Order: sequence, then C-alpha cells, then structure tokens
Amino acid sequence: MKTERLTPLTIAVLGPGGVGGLLAALLARTGHRVICLAAEETVRVLATDGISVRSGPFGDFTARVEADTELREPVDACLIAVKATALDAALERLPAKALGDDGLVVPFLNGVEHPAALRERYRPEQVAPAAIRVESTRLAPGVIEHGSPFAEIDLTGDTVPRDRLDALAGALEGAGARVRVTDDEARTLWAKMSFLAPFALLTTRYGLPLGDVRTLHREELTALVEETAAVSRASGAPVDPAAALARYDAFPPGTKSSMQRDAEAGRPLELDAIGGALLRAADRHGVAVPVARELVRALAGWDGR
Ligand SMILES: NC(=O)c1ccc[n+]([C@@H]2O[C@H](COP(=O)([O-])OP(=O)(O)OC[C@H]3O[C@@H](n4cnc5c(N)ncnc54)[C@H](OP(=O)(O)O)[C@@H]3O)[C@@H](O)[C@H]2O)c1
Repeated sequence: MKTERLTPLTIAVLGPGGVGGLLAALLARTGHRVICLAAEETVRVLATDGISVRSGPFGDFTARVEADTELREPVDACLIAVKATALDAALERLPAKALGDDGLVVPFLNGVEHPAALRERYRPEQVAPAAIRVESTRLAPGVIEHGSPFAEIDLTGDTVPRDRLDALAGALEGAGARVRVTDDEARTLWAKMSFLAPFALLTTRYGLPLGDVRTLHREELTALVEETAAVSRASGAPVDPAAALARYDAFPPGTKSSMQRDAEAGRPLELDAIGGALLRAADRHGVAVPVARELVRALAGWDGR
C-alpha cells in the first residue's frame, strides 16, 4: 500500500464518538477535509473546540473539523460510526440525495447485517463495510481516549469498485491506521463477529472480565465459540474455533467487551446486531446454537440497570 500524501479527500463522519472521533481527528490533522455529522449540541462543541485525542501511538493532539447536523453536499466518503442501536435515527442525517452517487458509505459498526440495510438505502456500489480493531472511548463530545496500541482496519465491499476502496484506504493509512483492503466481505465481517460474539455475550451475561470468563465459564465459552464458528462456516466464512480460543487466552485478564461496558453504564446494548444476528444466521442455515440462544434470551430485555 502506498502511503505518499494524496490529494485531500472530503470525508464525512456520522457519529464522532470513540471510533468516529478518532478517525475524524486523524484524517483532519493529515490534511483531509472532515465534516462531522452529529446532534446539535455535539456539533456546537466540535465546531468550536475541534476534537481532542489522547493516544499512545498517535500522541495527544487537537484537530479542527467542520460539523453539521446533516450532510448537505457530496463527499468522497462518509464513515458511519454510531452504535447499531442508533443507526436508523442517525441515517436521517445522511440523505442519499446529498451524498450523491459517488460517495462511499463506510460503516464501522460491529455486526453482519447492517451492510444489507445500507444497500437498500444507498446504491450498492457505494457501501464499503469496514471492521476495526481498536479500543477508543468518547469521554465527552469531542474528547477521545484511544487506549489500544493499534488501530487496524479491514476495508471491504463486494459491490464496490476496487480503486475507490484503495483511495480511502490510502487516506486512512496516511492518517496512521493500519489498513487492509480485503476482497471477501462475508469473511471479513464474520471473522470479527466470530471473535466478538462469544466475548461480548459472556462477559456481559456474567458481568466478568475476559480472564474470569475463560476460567470460570470455560465450558460455555468453548461451546459458544464452536457454535459461532459453525454459523460463520455456514455463512461462507470458515473460522478455526481453536484459534479463537487461543486469542481469548492471549488477552490481558482484565479485558472487558464494549457490550459489557455499555451494560455497566446503563446504555442500550448492541445485542440484536451481535447476538440477534448470530441467531438469525443460525436459523437461516439450520445450525443449532443452544448456548447462544440461551445467552441472548438471558440478556434480552436488558433495561440498563
Ligand atoms: N469504541 C471502540 O473501541 C470500538 C471498537 C471496535 C468496534 N466498535 C464499534 O463501532 C461502533 C461505534 O462504537 P463507538 O464505541 O465508537 O460508539 P460511541 O463512542 O458511543 O460513539 C457513537 C457516536 O454516535 C453518535 N450518535 C448517536 N446517535 C446519533 C445520531 N442520531 N446522529 C448522529 N450521531 C449520533 C454519538 O454522538 P454524541 O457524541 O453526540 O453522543 C457518538 O458520538 C459500534 O458498532 C461498536 O461496536 C467500537
């Protein structure tokens, strides 16, 4: 991948939180024009103060960005980084008419079902899903703490012309992320899902960090990893359950999932986008997932307490 300075792109960021705020600030400080799309109060803060980032690998810095409550002009790409629970409402800020026919729509959400929903709303050739591995937290509007020593992005899109993906990947890489353009969308999204679903469901269900889940609930973790791998395989994305377990074992014991953090903070859970989507895919392919079903049932109806 080339990393030389590119012609500046115009990039909108819908949902400038942990993920969106970090990417917006990195892109803006590299020289791209960035327009954050957010609610009125956040727009006011961002337009006045910019986005401040605290990051080990990227340093502490503040980047100036533009901000608006909705997109009003065509852009090269719109990165979507709201939580799944806010996606429908947030998309009101991204009218297809304003975006035009060429702007890429790049969702960074966890889950596997949102690309199809976006392709109903925008042109299929515009929708380029991304999977991101990062730990980044919105402490307040425009204040982002990037806690992981990495920010790795897999950019994909079976329906998107490759040169469009490469141009955006170049911009993100030039801004500091590690970016791979992958040519199998299902594999890319399910690879993330296969790791995330067991981790998120079990840490949230038991209110325990990963270290306790993998020792105290080992049998359930193993069964859930195997179920998830079977669904992933049936969805066209083979994954190795043993490798997934080995990855959990390598994480620091205090690691928490973002679903668990949402539960602790009383925020809505991305349960339907992760657990719900897993069950729907299992049903579609006739895969039995009793452990996942029980966990989703136990977590459903979570009301933030
Ligand atoms: N954070 C991570 O480290 C991480 C890592 C990998 C994947 N992910 C995934 O990335 C996605 C985003 O997560 P996140 O942690 O970045 O979320 P987040 O920090 O909660 O940020 C979400 C942002 O969406 C904004 N928002 C909510 N409703 C909106 C609306 N109607 N219109 C416009 N903006 C709206 C919020 O605005 P306000 O600031 O105004 O409240 C907030 O800035 C999720 O699917 C998550 O699972 C996150």
